[in-house]
Amino acid sequence: MIGVYDSGLGGLSVWRELVKVMPFEDYIYFSDGGHCPYGRKPVDFIVERACKVTEFFIEKGVDLIVVACNTATAAAISYLREHYQMTFVGMEPALKPAALHSKSKVIGILATAGTFKGKLYQNTLAKYRDDVEVIEARGDGLVEAVESGELHSESTVSLLHKYIDPMMEKGADHIVLGCTHYPFLMEEIEKIVDGKAVIIDPAPPVSRHVYDLLYGGKSDVPSDRKGSTVFYSTCTTPYKADILERSCGQPLQWRYLSL
Ligand code: DGL
Repeated sequence: MIGVYDSGLGGLSVWRELVKVMPFEDYIYFSDGGHCPYGRKPVDFIVERACKVTEFFIEKGVDLIVVACNTATAAAISYLREHYQMTFVGMEPALKPAALHSKSKVIGILATAGTFKGKLYQNTLAKYRDDVEVIEARGDGLVEAVESGELHSESTVSLLHKYIDPMMEKGADHIVLGCTHYPFLMEEIEKIVDGKAVIIDPAPPVSRHVYDLLYGGKSDVPSDRKGSTVFYSTCTTPYKADILERSCGQPLQWRYLSL
């Protein structure tokens, strides 16, 4: 069983890729919606939440945890790896592949404040900043837009323009989505980018990585089995995000809990 954790609904963009690659697995999806967004919260707070969720997953018997949140990965993954006997897979903005493939040598990164501040990102940036111009934009307001199912509203589209237009004006040929909520805004992002840049969603490579960790080199893949997912949330008000559910290809039945 695989545990998938995010501050909210964004990790569903990773979960849907995991299900594509491993439909035979059982999953527990955990949205910490009661504390979302994480973007500008203190590191200590996020570490504490990540530990609580990890212990919840351990109690449920998961074998591997995907921290499907760039912000929580930046804040907490080293701590989690040091303190729990568990395999953790985290998210990191795909700066490296964008830098390596860029021809214009200008790339754009859209992420939260917490992700930009994180060591993982800062170390990767230090390696590539001499080769490419990196235009960063903090996606303030976008997580909230996705949480409320406002994927196409005027205010969401104008925020996206505010963040992405300067990247396009400077000639970025790769736009990195450094937050797992943002792939749900892909339709609007694609309209703005208009085919002039590659948009990188890290969920597909992460799900292939999880497959390799669990089944790489094994012949006993239980491919004729149909897996299931249980969805938990700490949100106090039930989700109304129908549009998001449709982008996940199935209705999501949430179990609300306080943790
Ligand atoms: N999905 C989270 C991420 O990847 C959103 C963080 C937040 O809650 O601000 O960073």
